[in-house]
Amino acid sequence: MDWGMRNRLSRIIQPRDGRALVIPIDHGYFLGPMTGLEDPRKTLEPLIPYLDAIMLTRGILRNCVDPNFDKGVILRVSGGQSIVGPSLSDEDIITSVEEAVRLNASAVSLSIYVGTEHEHQTLTNLAKLIDECERYGIPVLAVTAVGRELEKREARYLALCCRIAAELGARFVKTYYCDGFEKVVEGCPVPVLIAGGPKMETEMDVFETIYGSLEAGGSGVVMGRNIWQNDHPAAMIRAVRAIIHEDATPKEAHQFYTQLVEEESKGV
Ligand code: R5P
Repeated sequence: MDWGMRNRLSRIIQPRDGRALVIPIDHGYFLGPMTGLEDPRKTLEPLIPYLDAIMLTRGILRNCVDPNFDKGVILRVSGGQSIVGPSLSDEDIITSVEEAVRLNASAVSLSIYVGTEHEHQTLTNLAKLIDECERYGIPVLAVTAVGRELEKREARYLALCCRIAAELGARFVKTYYCDGFEKVVEGCPVPVLIAGGPKMETEMDVFETIYGSLEAGGSGVVMGRNIWQNDHPAAMIRAVRAIIHEDATPKEAHQFYTQLVEEESKGV
């Protein structure tokens, strides 16, 4: 791998442990100002000290993130559809690689919709993007999207999606945690990160999901709603960070979270 590619990837996947804690705030590109992301700058600010990288569109990067931001930036470059439109899978490339270079992106991300009417379009989008990004040493993160069909989050399907993304040249992949997640990781020769999906019932569910993914060989998270929709986002990201970078168990992470929430309520 060339120096530029390795350097950019190291801003996201930390070289000391091969893991990443990415906070995505890109949901507005098809969902608009959803709960927790009405004011992206306000959402992001308390989380910055604890994250490795952010994932977002160029519009939110330019308008809501200070240019002296010194962590990794994954630029979302696919879109063109919306939650009220006919098809969530009907995505194209919406931001050029020249723009990614101009914005000093550490990586770019694009969704693929395997098994949908737009499978071919999104997979060829991925391949074309990779061809261009490899020329400039920019890693591409493939997002295995399921749209509204959350039931698709099972090992056989996700393993298929991740493997296809890696075969086409994605440098890393974002997917979902599932039973048998080790099969997804084993079949994919590049790092696999997990999204959180809709907010889970308890914090413990989140901690166990992350822990389980790492135990199965996963490389970390690109987790939004389960962190910034939490009542205590800063406590939540610190507990998540303890699991990812300090090998905390779900129980230890939960104790840490509870302690931080108590301190917060006392104004410590
Ligand atoms: C989809 O809207 C985006 O790609 C999100 O970045 C992705 O779903 C991860 O966010 P969450 O953990 O909220 O699912």
